[in-house]
Amino acid sequence: MYVCLCHGISDREIRSRCASAPCSAAEIYLARGVTPKCGKCVASVKALLAEAQASAAPVLVECGDISEVEYRIAS
Ligand code: FES
Repeated sequence: MYVCLCHGISDREIRSRCASAPCSAAEIYLARGVTPKCGKCVASVKALLAEAQASAAPVLVECGDISEVEYRIAS
């Protein structure tokens, strides 16, 4: 689905670009060498990035005795 009609940026492209590392909406546009034209898509781009980054966030798992709580990142 196209998120930005002015520049043809899709939700798939946005998720792909931020899959390896968190990024900002500005970086999405810069990667295409553009800036928002009408700006109608900016809120949607930011929402998609927040959703993608939330789902990629590490999950902490409590391990061992409660007196020596250790957290590990579950993958
Ligand atoms: S829809 Fe993205 S700048 Fe217009």
